[in-house]
This record gives sequence, C-alpha cells and structure tokens, in this order.
Amino acid sequence: MSINPEYLKLLINATEKAAYAASKFVGKNDKIGADQAAVDSMRMEFNKIDMDGKIVIGEGEMDEAPMLFIGERVGTKKGQKLDLAVDPLEGTNFVAKNLPNSFSVLAAAEQNNMFFAPDTYMEKIAIGPNLPKNLVDLDNSVEKNISLLAKAKKTDPNKLTVCILGRPRHEQIINSLKKMNVNLKLISDGDVSGAIYVVDNNSPVDMYMGIGGGPEGVLAAAALSCYGGQIQTRLVLDEKESIRARKMGISDLKRKYNIDDMIKGDVIFCATAITNGDLAEGIKEEDEFYEASTLALHKNTKVNKLFKNKHKK
Ligand code: FBP
Repeated sequence: MSINPEYLKLLINATEKAAYAASKFVGKNDKIGADQAAVDSMRMEFNKIDMDGKIVIGEGEMDEAPMLFIGERVGTKKGQKLDLAVDPLEGTNFVAKNLPNSFSVLAAAEQNNMFFAPDTYMEKIAIGPNLPKNLVDLDNSVEKNISLLAKAKKTDPNKLTVCILGRPRHEQIINSLKKMNVNLKLISDGDVSGAIYVVDNNSPVDMYMGIGGGPEGVLAAAALSCYGGQIQTRLVLDEKESIRARKMGISDLKRKYNIDDMIKGDVIFCATAITNGDLAEGIKEEDEFYEASTLALHKNTKVNKLFKNKHKK
C-alpha cells in the first residue's frame, strides 16, 4: 500500500501556509504567538483536505494542547486514513529572534504505521545511507560509535563531523568527541534539520547524536527513511511521563527504536523554511504574493525535491 501521491501537494500547502503565518512573527520575540499562528493555520488547511487524518505526533497531549493534540482527528474524514506527525513551528526561538533554520514540518504515513509516542525527550543517534544496517547503537560508548562509523566510511575519526544540540546535558558526549578530534556542528535548536544533515550532500555532518524532543525524532525518522538513512531512538521518561507512556500502550519503556520501528511503509515528509535555512530558503514576501520553499519527500514515488511555490497573500 502507498499514500495517494495527490496528498503531497496538499500537505506541502499545509506547511507553506503555516510557515507564512509564523513568518509574520519573525523577530517579534513572541514564541507563543508564532507557534499559535502556525498551528492554527496548519490545522485549518488540514481540515480542508479529503483525508481521515489522526495526529500521532503533535503539539502535546489532549489536556495540554487544544489544537493538533495527540489523537486529534483532522481532515474531512472522506479520504485515505493517515497518521500525521506535525511540528507547525520547529525552532520557536529562531523565529522569535530572527535566526536561520526555522521550519514548518510534517510527516504522513498510512494508518498505524507511525510511532505513537508521548511528547517527551528522546535519545537519538542518526547516520546516513549506504552504511551497514544498525551500525551504531545508543548503548555503545561514543568512542565505539565513532570508531564503527569511521571504519565503515574508511576514514579517521578526525575527518568525521557530528551534529549535536549545545546543551549542558551533552557535556560528556561533547568532551568524548573532542578527545577523538571529531569535528563538531553545535546547534542551538532545531534538531529535525540537525538529524537530516546526515543525508544532506551539502552538509559535512556524518552523525547526529544526543537528546532532543521526541516529536522531532519521529519527524527526522520520517525524512531519513525516504533517504535510506538510519536513526535509533529511546524515550527519556520521568515518573509522570512513564505513566503516560504506559497508558499509550508502551510496555517496554527502555526500548530502543530503529527507523523501521518508528516509520513503517510509505511516508511523506514536508519542511517549509520560515527564516532562511540550510535545507531551504525562507518565506519571501512580494507585493500580493509570497514565495515558500519546501523540501518535500515521498518515499514510494521517490520524490525528493525542493518546491518553490507562490501563494496569494
Ligand atoms: P521548539 O521549536 O519547540 O522550541 O523546539 C526546538 C528544539 O530545539 C527542537 O528542535 C529540539 O528537539 C528541542 O527543542 C530540544 O529541547 P530543549 O531546548 O529543551 O533542549
């Protein structure tokens, strides 16, 4: 089974409208306003689409997020049954402070084919395509994972680049990488793109690692699965979150998820840049129109394209 290819342009339209809505808040130091505008807009576009969509990864759980909450049904309920992962505004700080690399992002899979996870932190390790399956592992030391990757790429650790969020929780990992002379790409936010760098030919990044948002992990897995990349993840849960995870049907809380456990079968991924980004150019305003740039992927139809679309304001 595949996702009807007609959905690609409809879903691109949803991230483009959300990106435009958020773009009104660039440099306004208003993370909440920007996020709300993007959420409202994406939800409105979803509800025009003939699909029976279910938000699997969204803005939070029902009690804390009024819109695009996990479990919310969207669309006219007439078309294909789809699981949706959404992050209408990935990089709230970037929009608030007018910094590069903010995106509106979504992924769609066929019903029950996407990881249904609570909104928590997640350990992640990602590498690019054409490497042995399950080469790296979250339970390996940093040194072991780097050595395995260097060997598989027939290179030395000091020629590898690792992308990681610059956070105090990553001090040990960063120190280990420095000791091995690995090149670092430290990002301040935005680890959906952080993970996608491993498959981007224009980026030197060979591996993404560290703890970031769970929703961002699932979205990255959707993109990487279109490129044949790999990602392994594990939820990071406190006591309250563990109870929530169990309620959602996760019995093994320490389980490691490989890419095929997170995304099964066909998948669509769309990321529209709000501010200029490494993966696409930001929203460009013209008199009556705006131009949006979207990295769009559809696994089964092998679409991997940067779309530039003009919309009437
Ligand atoms: P928001 O757009 O929701 O602010 O998320 C940005 C982000 O950097 C994600 O890309 C990342 O997964 C997460 O925050 C990391 O969380 P934290 O800032 O708490 O370390």
